[in-house]
Amino acid sequence: MIQIVAVDERWAIGIDGGLLTDLPEDMKFFRETTQDSVIIMGRKTLLSFPNGKPLKNRINIVITKDKNFEESGAVICHSIEEAVDIAENYKDKKVFVVGGGTVYRQMLKYCDTAYITKIYKTFEEADTFIDNLDELPEWKVESESELKEYNGLGFRFITYKRI
Ligand SMILES: NC(=O)c1ccc[n+]([C@@H]2O[C@H](COP(=O)([O-])OP(=O)(O)OC[C@H]3O[C@@H](n4cnc5c(N)ncnc54)[C@H](OP(=O)(O)O)[C@@H]3O)[C@@H](O)[C@H]2O)c1
Repeated sequence: MIQIVAVDERWAIGIDGGLLTDLPEDMKFFRETTQDSVIIMGRKTLLSFPNGKPLKNRINIVITKDKNFEESGAVICHSIEEAVDIAENYKDKKVFVVGGGTVYRQMLKYCDTAYITKIYKTFEEADTFIDNLDELPEWKVESESELKEYNGLGFRFITYKRI
């Protein structure tokens, strides 16, 4: 599985249920990379999508403890293990973990690749964080893009691999 996420300098990922900042090139990267794949998310990340709806052209797996939760266009499950089992049915598709904080942390152990969009700023108000892969010896940078900039914000696309 592949973790895909945009982080700031402290590996923060969210504020008040939303993203840290608007980065159109990162959105485009996310859209294109996850196209036609399986995406696994927590219920709060589903809520953060446009109109709180599943993303088109992807198998959306949503994890919640709520046994009554329903969402057309999404496969609902109630544990991390169940999400992994369901994803394994899609043998011909890539599987991405798309957030948020609770799901990234619980599912990192299933991932061998991470697409990290590194934003060179510290968002002091951030309230959601993930594991810092630079501090985990089993994760190494495989490749990184040139430094990019949008609205004065520097960022880079970095691929990490589990070694
Ligand atoms: N920077 C990025 O690339 C990026 C990407 C995605 C999300 N985000 C941000 O991350 C934030 C959301 O993250 P979050 O950590 O608050 O929420 P989240 O991980 O998206 O969702 C949490 C919810 O998922 C369900 N859940 C999680 N683990 C579960 C388990 N083991 N069993 C059953 N249900 C489980 C629970 O739903 P119930 O409460 O329904 O039981 C839980 O409340 C937002 O700010 C969002 O914008 C950032």
